[in-house]
Amino acid sequence: MSDVTVLGLAGSLRLASVNRGLLRAAVEASPPGVSVEIFEIRDVPLYDGDIEDLGDPPPVAELKRRLLESDALLLSTPEYNRGMPGVLKNVLDWASRPPEQALQGKVVTMMGATPGGFGTRSSQFQLKQILGNPGAIVVPKPEVWVSHAGQRFDDDGNLTDDDTRQQITELLDALGEFVRTLR
Ligand code: FNR
Repeated sequence: MSDVTVLGLAGSLRLASVNRGLLRAAVEASPPGVSVEIFEIRDVPLYDGDIEDLGDPPPVAELKRRLLESDALLLSTPEYNRGMPGVLKNVLDWASRPPEQALQGKVVTMMGATPGGFGTRSSQFQLKQILGNPGAIVVPKPEVWVSHAGQRFDDDGNLTDDDTRQQITELLDALGEFVRTLR
């Protein structure tokens, strides 16, 4: 029985994405008391205020509902041009909107993987910068920056590296403690 429920979003649509793989690994590597469920962002449309005026499209309504039901949010982000991918920003923009403001007071942690050497640091710094405005509370540590993904994932994007798996468990452990402390 988990007392801390976590919704996981990956900022990549690629089937063999290493960040989707990192998120799948988080489902398996979650410590006792913490459970992670994945929300697929593929069907969330581009933000458009005219569409919003007609009512949230079903994938947006589902995203907001799942977020409101969860204690915390876990982001698994690639890095594009030293920043976060547009698809992830788009989902966070929808989630921030009233009347639900589903990111208000939401505890957030993050991780990210790249074939490069810098582990998505710049993308994660950018995410931390924008999450304050919608009222999210970012857990400061630990930080999970997975570099040289080609050595840690198989061709299908599945994590093969035990050290990274251990880092994910520690990240979720800290997230769980943070949520419990806030209660
Ligand atoms: C990249 N990539 C990349 N990697 C990085 O570490 N820093 C960067 O600034 C960029 N920039 C960048 C821009 C664009 C437009 C693309 C498409 C890619 C490479 C990126 O890390 C790589 O494609 C990852 O495999 C993407 O993550 P997923 O899809 O495997 O999760």
